Amino acid sequence: MKCALKMVVALVAVIFVCRFIYKHSGIFQYAHNPLQYMPNMHHTKALIPQRGYDFFPDHAGVRVPPAGTLAKTQQPYPYAKTVPATDVPKYSNPTPISREVVLRGQKVFMTTCVVCHGPSGLGNGYVVPPFPQPPSLQSDKIRGYADSQIFHVISVGQNSMGSYAPQIREEDRWAVIHYIRVLQISEKPSEEDLKAFDSLIQNTKGGQP
Ligand code: HEC
Repeated sequence: MKCALKMVVALVAVIFVCRFIYKHSGIFQYAHNPLQYMPNMHHTKALIPQRGYDFFPDHAGVRVPPAGTLAKTQQPYPYAKTVPATDVPKYSNPTPISREVVLRGQKVFMTTCVVCHGPSGLGNGYVVPPFPQPPSLQSDKIRGYADSQIFHVISVGQNSMGSYAPQIREEDRWAVIHYIRVLQISEKPSEEDLKAFDSLIQNTKGGQP
């Protein structure tokens, strides 16, 4: 009788130990496939956008660069959004113009700026309205801006226009400025532009004099 009691106690103890291992060891944590050798890399926690994430202390899933750091290709930009473009030193586009650069600028413009500024920069983009209508990039004001002043607006934003520095690399911002100049010439060419065009046509093989 005593022996039987001992056996029952031992059996209950074994059941408890097995249950403890099952619950807490981590080996059996996946009900669909309980015996997985080192399963953790297979079942990483999915990051669901706009939800909390308990891995980092700030509960944010997306990490931001540490304060005061720049990506390898970024140059620090010295002027804040509070500085008006007219107060920024005037200088010309440091990227030499070429067919490739203008086409690159066109790609950037047609990807990012067109939605608000419209295909010719007149301010008639697809999101206007409800987005407030931006001023025309064909205005005498922007024609008179130095390239560096347009660069300033793209880099830090202006009033309701946000900064596009995080989305557009510096070289692409200069390329889009070349493209804006091309749009301005095509919309309202100056006398010199027309003369340059005439001589280009005359010098082009097969062109009409
Ligand atoms: C979400 C809409 C939006 C996008 C995208 C956008 N802009 Fe703007 N932009 C505006 C608005 C609105 C203004 C007018 C801001 C203000 O009230 O001063 C503006 C102003 C400007 C100005 C100054 C115009 C002036 O007369 O003062 C320039 C230059 C400019 N944008 C260039 C660009 C370029 C280049 C891009 C693409 C890289 C771009 N913007 C993308 C909305 C946008």
